[in-house]
Amino acid sequence: MSGYLSVRDLGVEGKRVFLRVDLNVPVQDGLIQDDTRIRKAVPTLKHLVDRGARVIACSHMGRPKGRRVPELSLAPVAQRLRELLPGVQVTFAPDVLGEGARALAASLGPGEVLLLENIRFEPGETKGDADLARRIRALADCYVSDAFGAVHRPHTSVCAAAELFPEVAAGLLLEREVEYLAGRLGTPERPYTAFLGGAKVSDKIPILRHLSQKVNCLCIGGAMAYTFLAARALSSGHSRTEPDLVPACAEIMEGAKARGVDVLLPVDHRAALSMDAGQDARVVPAGAFPEELSAFDIGPETSKAFAARAAASRTIFWNGPMGVFERPEFAQGTLDLAKAVARSSALSVIGGGDSVSAVMQAGVADEISHISTGGGAALEFLAGEDLPGLRVITRR
Ligand code: 3PG
Repeated sequence: MSGYLSVRDLGVEGKRVFLRVDLNVPVQDGLIQDDTRIRKAVPTLKHLVDRGARVIACSHMGRPKGRRVPELSLAPVAQRLRELLPGVQVTFAPDVLGEGARALAASLGPGEVLLLENIRFEPGETKGDADLARRIRALADCYVSDAFGAVHRPHTSVCAAAELFPEVAAGLLLEREVEYLAGRLGTPERPYTAFLGGAKVSDKIPILRHLSQKVNCLCIGGAMAYTFLAARALSSGHSRTEPDLVPACAEIMEGAKARGVDVLLPVDHRAALSMDAGQDARVVPAGAFPEELSAFDIGPETSKAFAARAAASRTIFWNGPMGVFERPEFAQGTLDLAKAVARSSALSVIGGGDSVSAVMQAGVADEISHISTGGGAALEFLAGEDLPGLRVITRR
């Protein structure tokens, strides 16, 4: 990765390394629901441990707003790390950056890991707080950034603290993310197809604008598609639309057309009277949508059309579910797409929680070239935005 010092080039033996990771994983009743982000943090941890570094690992979880929220404790994550790093001493500091944590950091031996409690329990974390940054700096000799999922956040442990260290390097996961998102998708083999879904078109306008200038084909599903259909004067009954964004959707489609980019919208939907009436869902064509119904998933003909595009592509980017994926009655379109992307021989990159869950649920995660650990971060990165957590590790 150019422009950054790599952790591979950092002399770490015996040094205290502050490692910012993104271990923000879903936990319910103390049980980790998906440990992908923890597993993806392991290569950098192992790299450091194997070279005799004393590692102080730090992450956020959820949005506790500067308060201690027991359900958002990283304690279950510490336990999972112990399982994933057999033979490595992994200690947990429940007081985040308090006296106990400082004492544990000071007594760390080479090749040992200390995981701090959720850094967002500290009120200063989301504020770029100078005092918190200094407290982080006092713990370690150098800083390694591997929290790709958080590089779009100008938070203290991501930015202000990194600025205080004389040596700052990118971790292995961060390098891989940038290699795929900037390198492989930056100069894609063509045809390049993007599948975009999710509930709100308002969240995705920058990435839609950007991708519509990069790809050969843009396939749009999820509730977002209803606003695009409205821009083509097609009603989707009571489906969720964002009327004030109809002009923006129309402009994106006109721009794409002028550049010869295909825009595929759903040709059919799975629709019902309400989300709770999923058992009565039926397939309806996009051109004759019953006014009383709402759509909650793409239909089978749309799945076929999207699968054909996936099969014909050399590069694929996918973000966002095609329907209300958490409801089994409306998960089919997303699962169909997961399988189609996996079957394709294209280089495939997936970003964003629900699309990642879909490839896991469909059992095809191993057939995807790169599953990004960043949802919002991956989208902002692809949209060409200047990300504070990357700016700060740029070689200086
Ligand atoms: C994510 O889950 O996208 C990252 O961990 C960032 O979390 P945040 O949106 O709460 O900042």
